[in-house]
Amino acid sequence: MAGDAIRMDGKVAIITGGAGGIGGATARLMTARGARVAIADIMLDRAEALAGELDGAIAIHLDLESEASTQAMVATTVQHFGRLDVLHNNAALLGPEIAQNDGDVEHMDTALWDRTFAINVRGTMVACRSALPHLREVRGNIVNTVSNLALQGHMIQAAYSSSKAALIQLTRAIAASHGKAGVRCNAVAPGMTMTPALLEAFPVPLRQAVEDETLRDQLGVAEDIAEAVAFLASDAARNITGEVLVCDGGGTAHVPGISRFRTFFGEHA
Ligand SMILES: NC(=O)c1ccc[n+]([C@@H]2O[C@H](COP(=O)([O-])OP(=O)(O)OC[C@H]3O[C@@H](n4cnc5c(N)ncnc54)[C@H](O)[C@@H]3O)[C@@H](O)[C@H]2O)c1
Repeated sequence: MAGDAIRMDGKVAIITGGAGGIGGATARLMTARGARVAIADIMLDRAEALAGELDGAIAIHLDLESEASTQAMVATTVQHFGRLDVLHNNAALLGPEIAQNDGDVEHMDTALWDRTFAINVRGTMVACRSALPHLREVRGNIVNTVSNLALQGHMIQAAYSSSKAALIQLTRAIAASHGKAGVRCNAVAPGMTMTPALLEAFPVPLRQAVEDETLRDQLGVAEDIAEAVAFLASDAARNITGEVLVCDGGGTAHVPGISRFRTFFGEHA
């Protein structure tokens, strides 16, 4: 029995941004473990294509910037499946143009800051608010995708990283307010992960710089993050709530400048 705790048979999960890299991998993994998933995304055609491949899955059009759309996502899922066990808040405002314009605070565009918070933070809060009554009924849980950038300062992506830090606090707030009612809430913080969106948005030399700072021999892929999400969403994580599980190949786990130490000792070995 204990060995089956990672399984998700009979459970229903919503995955926002489910048509993307990490969301898509999570939808596949949860389905393989027995769950039925609602793939919610602003890119409906991609969500439909993935749902067509997965047993019992449905696709839902979601625009997290719209409160009505976000509420409808939860209502449609519960109407279709009759229950909701897991809400995986994974969608975020991303893309090469966004990343290019989201720099340091001195040069921040107010509209970009507001849109980032409207989608990443307010949208996630609305999704949680809509889902909580259903999650309480089945002692379900929430997993929020944040980022290693929510835990460390950087010279880029001030709006994105601040919004992800806000999601960590939202995670703790929900865990604290709904834990006794049986609802857990956790976050997964990926480091740089080789999704198609990332490959498009991030220059190769900077990618190499991040890889040099990780403790593995390669950067993570979407399936690595999906494993962490599916674990936290499963009963195997029943004693874990209000936590941030960093899934970044050790990128945040060491002293600054370790790649230079590696070079020094490597050269003198
Ligand atoms: N890839 C990485 O290196 C990395 C690192 C840290 C954190 N993350 C986080 O992981 C999550 C998934 O990222 P990904 O790399 O798979 O990117 P992705 O672009 O492949 O996936 C994001 C998905 O969100 C959807 N989306 C965007 N805006 C939306 C909106 N307003 N309403 C509904 N859906 C919307 C997109 O259509 C897309 O399918 C994000 O929260 C991202 O911040 C990714």
